[in-house]
Amino acid sequence: MQTILVTGGCGFIGSNFIHYMLNQNKYRIVNLDALTYSGNLENLKDIEEDLNYKFIHGRVEDAKLVNKVIKEEEISFIIHFAAESHVDRSIMDSTPFIKTNIFGTQVLLDSARLNNIEKFIQVSTDEVYGSLSSEGYFTEETPLAPNSPYSASKAGGDLLVRSYVETYGFPATIVRCSNNYGFYQFPEKFIPLLITNILKDENIPLYGDGLNVRDWIYVEDFCRGIDFAFHKGKNGEVYNFGGNGEKTNLFVVEYILRCLNKPKSLIKFVKDRLGHDKRYAIDFSKSKRDLGWEPIYIFEEGIKHTIDWYLNNKEWWERIKSGEYLRYYEQMYGERD
Ligand code: TYD
Repeated sequence: MQTILVTGGCGFIGSNFIHYMLNQNKYRIVNLDALTYSGNLENLKDIEEDLNYKFIHGRVEDAKLVNKVIKEEEISFIIHFAAESHVDRSIMDSTPFIKTNIFGTQVLLDSARLNNIEKFIQVSTDEVYGSLSSEGYFTEETPLAPNSPYSASKAGGDLLVRSYVETYGFPATIVRCSNNYGFYQFPEKFIPLLITNILKDENIPLYGDGLNVRDWIYVEDFCRGIDFAFHKGKNGEVYNFGGNGEKTNLFVVEYILRCLNKPKSLIKFVKDRLGHDKRYAIDFSKSKRDLGWEPIYIFEEGIKHTIDWYLNNKEWWERIKSGEYLRYYEQMYGERD
């Protein structure tokens, strides 16, 4: 059985992917994770004892460690999730974003190249394409025009991957997705923040006029997309994954309030995010044509599973919410002027 190194496997998409992959019983998985504020070993508690799984604590920027892991664990493939991913945090301080998302990616790429890794998947985001007005879609040909320090750092990582393909013939593929939601998502991101706030009868901070649009993809659909890109994607190619789920933020809040039978009075309009991208929407026809992929879940169904999961896993998120993570909101987002 060959071994995949998953970086950032204790985070939201990484932990969903590890569950998804181990279920298939085709690969051994080594998870290298720094356990930063959003990495959580509890996300993988149910598979801790799986003989095809191993956790290693460490950072992707640590070249010595990465080299050791790739050699000693006989890694054949790398799927690189490890990233700082929250736009608001990047507005406060972009340093950790540059360290992990750019420098960390470069360290990993070098080690992967020198150790003859057979395939490298760079997990990225549609945010590298910038923002859309009310029309059009991001395709793989859309020029990169990141607007936040977060998306700039992801674009930097993607460009390094591209350069390794061009310079060294390195076997890498880039996957870019729209906004994921689902189990184990850290409740600073919009959907888990609003589900957990609503369950506690706390206000939901809605930025600006609430009319920014995101395309929502259920995380299981994206995990399948990564799997398809890993097995069928070509080196040097980019594949986009979207959920066919374009919604305004206001729609999402009102929909979840209805699902939970809670009043609209919980909505609190606050100051807008700096540089807030207006709209993201993805054209995934290349993934459909070349990989045979399309999303299975519609928004309403994925949201139902997600709400049920947060209802059934209160301990998981209550422990997180009792921590420090919300402090930056107080600094950045007061009442709207
Ligand atoms: P987020 O989950 O941070 O993802 P991203 O910024 O990467 O798309 O935010 C999704 C949308 O929800 C975005 O338009 C900002 C908005 N938002 C709020 O209105 N209030 C909030 O408290 C948060 C976290 C996000």
